[in-house]
Amino acid sequence: MVRLIIEAPAGSYPVVIGSNLNRELRGAVARLDATSAPIVTDANVLPWAKKVAKTIKRAGVKSPIHVIRPGERSKSMDALGDLLAFLERQNVDRAGCIIAVGGGTVGDLAGFGAAVWQRGIRVVQVPTTLLAMVDSSIGGKTGVNGRRSKNAIGAFWQPAAVVADLAFLETLPTGNFREAFAEVVKYAVAMDRGLYEVLLKNRDRLVAGDRAALEKVVFQCVMAKALVVAKDEREAGPRAILNYGHTAGHALEAATGFRISHGRAVAFGMRVAARIAFSMDLCTKRFVEAQDAMLTAYGLPDRPPRVELSRVLAAIPRDKKARRGKVAWVLPRRLGHAETGHAVPGAIVSRVLRKALA
Ligand SMILES: NC(=O)c1ccc[n+]([C@@H]2O[C@H](COP(=O)([O-])OP(=O)(O)OC[C@H]3O[C@@H](n4cnc5c(N)ncnc54)[C@H](O)[C@@H]3O)[C@@H](O)[C@H]2O)c1
Ligand SMILES: [Zn+2]
Repeated sequence: MVRLIIEAPAGSYPVVIGSNLNRELRGAVARLDATSAPIVTDANVLPWAKKVAKTIKRAGVKSPIHVIRPGERSKSMDALGDLLAFLERQNVDRAGCIIAVGGGTVGDLAGFGAAVWQRGIRVVQVPTTLLAMVDSSIGGKTGVNGRRSKNAIGAFWQPAAVVADLAFLETLPTGNFREAFAEVVKYAVAMDRGLYEVLLKNRDRLVAGDRAALEKVVFQCVMAKALVVAKDEREAGPRAILNYGHTAGHALEAATGFRISHGRAVAFGMRVAARIAFSMDLCTKRFVEAQDAMLTAYGLPDRPPRVELSRVLAAIPRDKKARRGKVAWVLPRRLGHAETGHAVPGAIVSRVLRKALA
């Protein structure tokens, strides 16, 4: 088991990573001295949420469960309304604390609910997907989708604690587990050479879900994210590094009407960013090949998605992180180090994307 404290401007919070963390969860909730600890979860994760409820009850805190429908469509204003109505029915007061048991969908919705209920109550994130453990449970971005745009409505709201129990991954569908490695490779390539080496050496164990190997990797990802979030809670500058692979990745998601998964899109985006960096003499051919091999090794092969180049190109300036149509690319220099804020000539973007989609 590993434990770390994340320093955020709004306050610091503990993160515990390990297996079978009942005691730690009970301790974390007890320390918060909450009047109630309503659980938010989705139907697929309900068995785990019930276990969590039992654990919390032993800390002497009431823990009613609100179950949402699984999937991205639950990140909506309707689902938020239902959640707030539940909190109202349960008389959750300002000293209450929401426990989000689920993947990024549950975490984003429950976190946002916590941010607005009674003008803000605490939330403990209990991530149950690898993506939520390495990414969405950390950093305090919460929210729901608008009618047409993803994550359009939300708040920065840091958790009071994060308890990542690797035992929960046991029931996670393989596809979702594999996809999350796109973000793991992202941290390694953009920020952490040491993590890259760990991924290189322990591929088989990690892909098989070996808990000791995963614990180390989740810890390193959380550290990488925490370091930039601490410097930049509200995404003004350094946090942009987390967007590595996401510029072309988001464009691909938008251009395919979100038929391609986020992990695959990010993997595609990293391959594109590396080729752009190589065209601009920012990295070596060997770097591009090493990243390609790593992505393929983690089940993110280089299969070009079926989509028209013009649609992907058109989606790029619409990326949320673009300012006045100018896209700031995150480009890699070497393994473990990428740079933010690169302007890339349009001709290079089109040429690289055309090849990537061929
Ligand atoms: N807030 C952030 O910083 C941030 C960062 C990255 C992604 N996100 C968001 O996270 C969401 C994606 O998260 P996700 O991949 O965790 O998806 P998810 O929460 O939708 O979970 C994926 C599927 O797995 C099921 N599931 C979850 N845990 C399970 C378990 N242990 N056993 C069996 N089934 C389980 C869920 O019911 C769901 O069907 C997106 O909405 C994305 O926008 C947010
Ligand atoms: Zn992502």
